Amino acid sequence: MSECRSLVAIIGGTGLNDFQQGRVAGERQTPFGETSADIIVSAVADQPLAFLARHGRPHSISPHKINYRANLWALKQLGVEQVIAVNAVGGIHTDLPAGSIVIPDQLIDYTYGREHTFFDGGRASLEHIDFTYPFTESLRGQLVNAAHHSGITVVDTAVYGAVQGPRLETVAEVNRLEKDGCDIIGMTAMPEAALARELSMDYASLCLVVNPAAGRSEILITMTDIHAVIDTGMIKVRKLLTAMILEKAVDTQSTRCTRGAGPRFR
Ligand code: HPA
Repeated sequence: MSECRSLVAIIGGTGLNDFQQGRVAGERQTPFGETSADIIVSAVADQPLAFLARHGRPHSISPHKINYRANLWALKQLGVEQVIAVNAVGGIHTDLPAGSIVIPDQLIDYTYGREHTFFDGGRASLEHIDFTYPFTESLRGQLVNAAHHSGITVVDTAVYGAVQGPRLETVAEVNRLEKDGCDIIGMTAMPEAALARELSMDYASLCLVVNPAAGRSEILITMTDIHAVIDTGMIKVRKLLTAMILEKAVDTQSTRCTRGAGPRFR
């Protein structure tokens, strides 16, 4: 692997519990507890890639029980500089039907009771991170470009409402989220995005709308319907991720390497 390549990580959510075969790397145990699963390192072309299953393997950890701090910390220790988070979400508007792919640019956090910062008084001196733009614009741009180049339609601006779960919402809650300005609803982008920022890692979210939000369709939401959308939608998500990582590999080849050290794989 080239010394010049930075390590990119995919955090897979519901419907994306693996990406491709690789080897286990890094440590599951961190000062904040254990990661959701082993980190699997592989490569696409020459671009190194780490993968972490957010809900564990098998998929069993509820959104509010995920050890977000351990996950982000372990990725950082491995040398990850950019994180692409894959999130299954509900769509609030009729122009975001099930199957849509969305790359949000803003979020509102409604979660509670989650360990949401590394600045908890224990180990680091207090810093108030800037979170004006919660998703890294350049990384979002790379996803959007890769989507265009591979003919995949994406919505490239949206407000992600991060809710506690694991239950879905009431109609009144969805109405309130809409009034607040949310376009999509998910359970896992927070505190993940903020923790990545605290560790100075780029972070972007690639969302698959797996259901119309509560009260936004004639029928009730069922897991059967959600899984049907996941089965087809995640094929597109995988294609887009592969295209984006391939483009990163080409970009790095055509740019002179100025980085001193390569990825710190263990
Ligand atoms: N609401 C919250 N989170 C979700 C939904 C939803 O409708 N669908 C998938 N994740």
